[in-house]
Amino acid sequence: KPLVFSGVQPTGNLHLGNYLGAIRKFVALQDDNDCIYCVVDLHAITAQLVHEDMRGQIRSIAAAFIAAGIDPKKHIVFNQSAVPQHAELAWIFNCVARIGWMERMTQFKDKTGGKNAEQVSLGLLAYPSLMAADILVYRATHVPVGDDQKQHLELTRDIAQKFNIDFGNHIRKAGIGVDIVVGEEPVHAYFPMVEPLIGGPAPRVMSLRDGTKKMSKSDASDLSRINLTDDAETISKKIRKAKTDPDALPSEVEGLKGRPEADNLVGIYAALADKTKADVLAEFGGQQFSAFKPALVDLAVNVLSPITDEMRRLMDDTSHIDAILRDGGERARARAEKTMKEVRDIIGFVQ
Ligand code: TYM
Repeated sequence: KPLVFSGVQPTGNLHLGNYLGAIRKFVALQDDNDCIYCVVDLHAITAQLVHEDMRGQIRSIAAAFIAAGIDPKKHIVFNQSAVPQHAELAWIFNCVARIGWMERMTQFKDKTGGKNAEQVSLGLLAYPSLMAADILVYRATHVPVGDDQKQHLELTRDIAQKFNIDFGNHIRKAGIGVDIVVGEEPVHAYFPMVEPLIGGPAPRVMSLRDGTKKMSKSDASDLSRINLTDDAETISKKIRKAKTDPDALPSEVEGLKGRPEADNLVGIYAALADKTKADVLAEFGGQQFSAFKPALVDLAVNVLSPITDEMRRLMDDTSHIDAILRDGGERARARAEKTMKEVRDIIGFVQ
């Protein structure tokens, strides 16, 4: 079975973008894959070191995974810091990757724009190196994420490729790895080339206030996003107030061009209903937002309320969540250590 890995940061409330771009896909991938889903707490301290309620944040992401339908017995749910092999491999990748690769990341530029180097942690620069380690410490091949993580996954491939080439002879001597062709070059590879799983009708959910901006935890306006903790009334209010244009919905996807808010709401509807945008427009084309929005409210409340309720129930007694994380951590550690033994051997460390 293909091995799937993905992670979510325990920083602030989860929103509809996290759910549609990532968590809903995590759930769908369970049947045909071996899945590892991680609460990336080491990543959470890169932008801000001290968090008021780190434990609560970690538990609430794990609760969201479980509430959304991830089965922690068949698959693995854990928090990153419980498996020190992530940090160990990240260090090695810090020595494989080049500073220039990190400085080119648009997310790094966005997060540091206007700041000077004294204000930016070294961890924030090295963030993608840890992300590559998260995935490759299990030698996972498929990574479901939202569109904003695409560049980080390209970097993961670059790191894997450089490691494979630089250590090609060592990998062969160790008698592990497989022969692959990268570009024109035959390489004896240890790390796989990861495939991002980004598709679907809502790979980038946009702000409800501005269809050209990503829905994000850090947007000052709470009306810009639907949080997984919002109740039905709040969801309804936010969708009713969502920015739109004055025209009716088009009957074909082409007609959404140049209408970012309409495109976003139709994409959200499609993703929540497991349909395509074309399906949604076949049903609602020609109708006004005054008719479409109430349908979207009903759908969003129907899909999200059970998850929100279950999250709340799980957070009432955290011992259950903690036991899931402990068990997942143990199983993840065993798998990660297997890779690290081989990596130490490839590099030539005495162990
Ligand atoms: P994070 O915690 O910012 O977001 C978690 C997931 O939600 C997706 N997402 C969105 N998708 C669609 N529309 C949006 N508006 C939206 N906002 C967020 C993100 O793409 C992500 O899939 N670096 C990662 C966490 C990470 C990771 C990894 C992911 C660490 N290690 C290894 C995959 C594999 C991040 O900060 O996600």
